Amino acid sequence: MARKKIGLIGAGNIGGELANQIVEKQLGDVVLVDIPEKEGVAKGKALDIMQNSALIGKDASCIGTSNWQDVAGADVIIVTAGIPRKPGQSRDDLVGVNVGIIRTVADNAKKYCPNAFAIIVANPLDAMVFEFHRRSGFDKSKVCGMAGMLDSARFQYFLADAANVSVKDVRTMVLGGHGDDMVPISSMCTINAVPASELVASDKMAAIIQRVRGGGGEIVKLMGTSAYYAPASAAIQMAESFLFDQKRLMPCAAYLTGQYGYKDMFIGVPIIIGASGVEKVIEVPLTVDETAALKKSAEAVMTVVDIVKKTP
Ligand code: APR
Repeated sequence: MARKKIGLIGAGNIGGELANQIVEKQLGDVVLVDIPEKEGVAKGKALDIMQNSALIGKDASCIGTSNWQDVAGADVIIVTAGIPRKPGQSRDDLVGVNVGIIRTVADNAKKYCPNAFAIIVANPLDAMVFEFHRRSGFDKSKVCGMAGMLDSARFQYFLADAANVSVKDVRTMVLGGHGDDMVPISSMCTINAVPASELVASDKMAAIIQRVRGGGGEIVKLMGTSAYYAPASAAIQMAESFLFDQKRLMPCAAYLTGQYGYKDMFIGVPIIIGASGVEKVIEVPLTVDETAALKKSAEAVMTVVDIVKKTP
């Protein structure tokens, strides 16, 4: 069976980490794409990763390019093309620059790999997924955004740390937009099926929720740029679920057609990802407070989407 082809659009911090992990896991052959001015970086990272493959004994190829023809026929694309945050910036501040980039990416994806499963990572996430979907004409089942997996992982880690338990046993869910108004669902947190409230006091939980909401910004403040290890791992879990028809239930930005009371927009909800892409949007019961928080988050997403729609 031929190896799968995975196009990584953007060869920056997340793109490089994605390429490294994909080769290490032998998920498929990687094409690392960047703009012509950064083609050397893409090629250099690809070469470094291939030399590493000799050391770790993995059979998968990785090339760097600025030519979209090299992405032709990709099974999966993961889009990180765009500028990341600098300290003090919100994700929404990136919209002016990144909307132009996502449009270029969508036009090329439509031309060169119209059957790919597209995972969008660039920010402001929910608006970028919306624009990729609108512009590329990809079916809604073949487009989703990576945010909920990352935010839930942050929640999982903070909770494991607070409860002094293995991170493996903690289950969390963060819904809504990938912004300060995201909605960590504390009513669904468990530690191996035991309600997290049994191990973590409510004031501690409230502090953790605030830290999750600012989790990306905390790292930007420390490093001067945004996170890349966890974002790459989160996107890879989504790609794996598609490539191996795992049908995992994951919080991701998906196109809504009335679920949770919203339609014609992308926002973080629990979905099943399998060989057909986004196979199902799961509607879970939310508390009154969680419903109100989701509304606030959805309104924040709509404001940015409106900016995108008005951008010529
Ligand atoms: N096509 C391909 N690559 C592009 C394009 C384009 N049209 N425009 C920009 N790029 C490239 C940049 O040249 C850069 O190498 O995207 C890369 C982005 O890499 P970084 O600046 O290192 O950013 P990164 O940390 O990887 O984050 C990328 O994901 O999480 C989000 O907020 C983050 O929007 C940001 C994106």
